[in-house]
Amino acid sequence: MRFDVVTLFPEMFGIVRDLGVTGRAHTQGRWALHAWNPRDFTHDVHRTVDDRPYGGGPGMVMMAAPLADAVQAAQVARAEPAPVVLLSPTGRRFDQPLAQSMAGGAGAILICGRYEGVDQRFIDRHVTDEISLGDFVLSGGELAAMAIIDAVVRLLPGVLNDDESAIQDSFNPALSGLLDSPHYTRPEVYAGEAVPAPLLSGHHARIARWRREQSLRLTAARRPDLIERAREQGWLTAEDERFLRSLQDLH
Ligand SMILES: C[S@@+](CC[C@H](N)C(=O)[O-])C[C@H]1O[C@@H](n2cnc3c(N)ncnc32)[C@H](O)[C@@H]1O
Repeated sequence: MRFDVVTLFPEMFGIVRDLGVTGRAHTQGRWALHAWNPRDFTHDVHRTVDDRPYGGGPGMVMMAAPLADAVQAAQVARAEPAPVVLLSPTGRRFDQPLAQSMAGGAGAILICGRYEGVDQRFIDRHVTDEISLGDFVLSGGELAAMAIIDAVVRLLPGVLNDDESAIQDSFNPALSGLLDSPHYTRPEVYAGEAVPAPLLSGHHARIARWRREQSLRLTAARRPDLIERAREQGWLTAEDERFLRSLQDLH
C-alpha cells in the first residue's frame, strides 16, 4: 500500500512514518509514504501557493495549479492508480467501514488543505473523494490525513500482532459493530477497587459473556445508533436482546 500526501508541511508525517504500529509497519515495508510539497511546483521567486479569495472575505485560498501539478507528479510516480482524496470538513465522515474498505485498496493520494481551503476548480477536476474527520474545523488536512493513514495501516494483514488484534476493537464486525468493553490490568486491586470478578474466573465463556454485556451496556448508553445497526444486520442474539431489555427494565 502506498500513500502520497500533498502537503505544505511534509515533516508532520514523520509521526505516522516513524512511530508506533504504523512506524513498525513502514520499516517492514508494508506501506510506503511519499510527500509532495505544492511549493515545489510553483514558478515564482516567492514560491506562492495561495492568494486572496475572489469575492472578498477573510483568509487565503490554495491555488489550483501547484496542487494539480503535485497530484500529477504523484500519479506518475505510482505503479497503480489511486483515489485522489481531499481532506475537508465538507466531505463524507470517515469511519471504520471506510477504513476497512480503504485497507483493501492500493492506498490514496491525500490532499491536505490549509488556509480557507482549496480553489474549487482543482477539486472539480482532480479530486475523486472528499473525506472529513468529523464535525469540527482543523487548521489543516495533515492531522486528518495522518488519522486516516493510521486507521487504514493498522488493518493491513500482519501489521498488528495477536496481542494487538483489531478484531476486538470498537466498530469491528467481529464485535457486531458495538463499542469495546472496559479493560483491566495489574494490580488486581487499585485504589480499593477490584477487577470485576468474571475476568478473574478463568472461565472463557463467562468472560466472553461479561465482555459482551459490557459492550452492549456501553453502546446502548452512548451510541444507540450502533445497537440499531447491529439489530438491522442480524448481529444481535436472543441473549443479547434479553440483556438489552433487562437494561431498559432498570430505568
Ligand atoms: C481552516 S480549514 C478550512 C475550513 C473551510 N473554510 C470550511 O469551513 O469548511 C483548512 C483545511 O483543513 C482541513 N480540515 C479542516 N477541518 C477538517 C476536518 N474536519 N476533516 C478533514 N479535514 C479538515 C481541510 O483540508 C481544509 O481545507
